[in-house]
Amino acid sequence: MTSAEKYIESKLEERRSSGIYRTLKPENDLIDFCSNDYLGFARSVALKSSIDLEVQNHPQSLNGSTGSRLLSGNLQYAEDLEKSIAAYHQYQAGLLFNSGYDANLGLLSSLALRGDTIILDELIHASAIDGARLSYANRYSFKHNDTGSLEAKLKLAKGNCYVVIESVYSMDGNTPPLLDILNIAERYGAHLIVDEAHAVGLYPKGLVTELGLQGKVFASLVTFGKALSGHGAIILGSDILRQYLINFARPFIYTTAASFHQLASIKMAYQLLNNAEPEIISLKNNIKLFKEQIKPESVYPLLNSDSPIQCIVFKSNDKARDIANILQNKGFDVRAILSPTVATGTERIRICLHAFNTANDINKLATIINQFINA
Ligand SMILES: Cc1ncc(COP(=O)(O)O)c(C=O)c1O
Repeated sequence: MTSAEKYIESKLEERRSSGIYRTLKPENDLIDFCSNDYLGFARSVALKSSIDLEVQNHPQSLNGSTGSRLLSGNLQYAEDLEKSIAAYHQYQAGLLFNSGYDANLGLLSSLALRGDTIILDELIHASAIDGARLSYANRYSFKHNDTGSLEAKLKLAKGNCYVVIESVYSMDGNTPPLLDILNIAERYGAHLIVDEAHAVGLYPKGLVTELGLQGKVFASLVTFGKALSGHGAIILGSDILRQYLINFARPFIYTTAASFHQLASIKMAYQLLNNAEPEIISLKNNIKLFKEQIKPESVYPLLNSDSPIQCIVFKSNDKARDIANILQNKGFDVRAILSPTVATGTERIRICLHAFNTANDINKLATIINQFINA
């Protein structure tokens, strides 16, 4: 073994011995309480047909984009799509990225310079943390959803200041006091950035637009890989922000643009979202049903969340993994979320509800979970 291989093996062994070794698993036929396909778009036959038709209706479209947007990879179709998505969410402009990860990386790393400040909710997604790390700005985190803690950090801020939050937190499923955070940020002249990855779907236009705050946030991020069932993301904001990102966001500049097929999938998913009222109602009903079924005041309580993401914290990797295994053996695809993905002591099972889950499956799942949360 070379010294590099010895290092690699020792790090993997560390993971194995602490029980947190990650492996890829093939798809399964368990009942889906795990995926981000909140509205069932990924399995929608109608969506598949409309994407096929859109591709057929553009016979001149290429299989691949052939280059980055700034070279051969730009399409009028992409620019029109950006305009229509921005208009749908009621923002001035939007810029597509190849993933939500890239979008957060590009936005934060290019925007905040040395001497500026980025303040992140402590539970913010890894992509925002990585974007902030890649910038040369000062970084602070504030206690989750805690406006007092945010204000304390705002008092320390220098230069241009950006506050970064999610509108539905990916691992807890809860929502921030968006208006309060916006007001505090405004009071300190800070710019609010909202990651809407898990909110779009439950709120078709995102929580920011749902609350009518789209004119007040500096930028929002919408990803297409969750309720919209595709791949990619868009940063929404002002037209000058879009121009800036085209000039300075390296994950936008130095990468091959999305293919026509990918763009068509996004466009068709938005058309479906426009008519997804029945799916949204089913999703809301399923969230309500699940919450009603889980026993309150348990040793391992359900986290407070009104979103499709519902978590029960078992406070140990082993316990969370054991419960997830039991549920999987009974036919339910529920995953454990272990440390270091979440903080030590907050290891959990994470149940994702969908429009297509049946009441019977939800009741059965809840009955099994209830056997373990007082144990
Ligand atoms: C809150 C949040 N932001 C960004 C991302 C990254 O998005 P993508 O999967 O499109 O890279 C995710 C994905 O897990 C997320 O949960």
